[in-house]
Amino acid sequence: MQLPPGIQTFPLLQTLELIANPIRFFDKYRQRYGDTFTARVLGLNSPPVVFLGNPEAVQSVFTAEPGQFELGKVTHVFRPLTGDKSLIMLDGERHRRQRKLLMPPLHGDRMKTYGKLIHQLTQDAIANLPHHTPFAIRDPMSDISLEVILRVVFGIQPGDRYQQLKHSISSLLEAITNPIYSSFFFFPPLQKDLGSWSPWGHFVRRKAEIDALIYAEISERRQQNYQEKTDILSLLMSAEDENGEKMTDIELRDQLLTLLFLGHETTASSLAWAFYWLYQRPDIRQKLQQEIAELGTNYTPEDLVSLPYLNAVCQETLRLYPIALISQPRIVKKPLTTQGITYKEGTILIPCIYLAHHRPESFPDSHTFKPERFLERKVSPFEHFPFGGGSRGCIGMAFSLYEMKLVLGTILADLQLNLDTSVPVKPIRRGITIVPAGGKFTVTGYAEKPQAVTV
Ligand code: HEM
Repeated sequence: MQLPPGIQTFPLLQTLELIANPIRFFDKYRQRYGDTFTARVLGLNSPPVVFLGNPEAVQSVFTAEPGQFELGKVTHVFRPLTGDKSLIMLDGERHRRQRKLLMPPLHGDRMKTYGKLIHQLTQDAIANLPHHTPFAIRDPMSDISLEVILRVVFGIQPGDRYQQLKHSISSLLEAITNPIYSSFFFFPPLQKDLGSWSPWGHFVRRKAEIDALIYAEISERRQQNYQEKTDILSLLMSAEDENGEKMTDIELRDQLLTLLFLGHETTASSLAWAFYWLYQRPDIRQKLQQEIAELGTNYTPEDLVSLPYLNAVCQETLRLYPIALISQPRIVKKPLTTQGITYKEGTILIPCIYLAHHRPESFPDSHTFKPERFLERKVSPFEHFPFGGGSRGCIGMAFSLYEMKLVLGTILADLQLNLDTSVPVKPIRRGITIVPAGGKFTVTGYAEKPQAVTV
């Protein structure tokens, strides 16, 4: 089978090159081979993996008929975190059914019920910012995004259980970002509980604490009139699939943890990037602040999230350094022909978000932050897809864009910040996401009268 041209070095070398600095890896080989190339990045005996950044090829993957691909084993590293019943572990019919249950609470009019709470949580975070000490913007963004998940997705009210969950989750998430700790997920033989001080022992204990708290919440919720509540856990408890079956407690726990692990860091890091771009480009920030100011002092979350320039700023943020550089790998089950190449059964295809977002044909001068790109022409979902696409595309896309716009808009309206630009901001890998490192912010002032959001 003829594959696209690609990297010729030893597979182990390619794998290490990708892990050490994924952005440099993609920039370097894009310049050499263009938007689509073959690599061997799955270790010593890696099979060929084709990275697809060309819109025609991406479209072929995202619009393929059901059953054309199966999921690569890559997502299996998440299994200890999210459990067997998690959406990202499932394939075929079981995946389709769970996805159908999870989609409604994260879409459409449902968003409106979350708006006021997200706005309130943002204002609380603003009030808690340090006044004279410089801070990394990721910290408050991470706090907001975790609180949004606990309140809106889990539906937990502030109190003891809320505080305990917040503490256990933060401690686990922080530990996972350590490269040594996270390597345990890739090598199952290392997954041995050698006591609470061993990395896996720490993981097992934290995970057990989180599970117990979630099961306690589910059990308490079952005693209440959960049908009347609007949080995502309550909606999932009421939902039935085509066969009239409801989710079991284990399924509910696994889906909650999936939404937490995939939804928290991603949204927090995207917000952090947006602040860095906006504070490095005062002209763009002022244009956005002007758009928000024109809403007046009384507006709804929907007014804010419908602003075109705010949308363009978020889309451009997600384009330049997409939080996930790649979509989930797809293994070909039935031959697929695209761009004149027929990929046979067993070939691993990866729609590569970063390659597509830096194609000069789609985004000239691609390393410059320029939201106007999204106002000047209609960008296709196969050129720009920070949330992936097709039957495995991100189910949190509408939710996180809504949250991003609301948090960003609220902070820009209510707070004045200063960015110390003496330390350049760089993209670094943190767990599975690409996040900004460097440059600290300080609070320099508050709006005279914070915006009043009405619902
Ligand atoms: C800026 C924020 C986010 C980004 C950039 C992002 C990105 C992605 C990407 C690239 C994928 C893989 C898509 C593919 O393979 O085609 C994905 C999958 C997924 N995301 Fe997100 N995501 C974000 C926020 C969220 C949120 C807030 C949630 C949930 C509340 C979420 C839940 C999921 C789930 C469950 C999947 C797996 C879908 C499946 O396998 O069917 N994500 N996300």
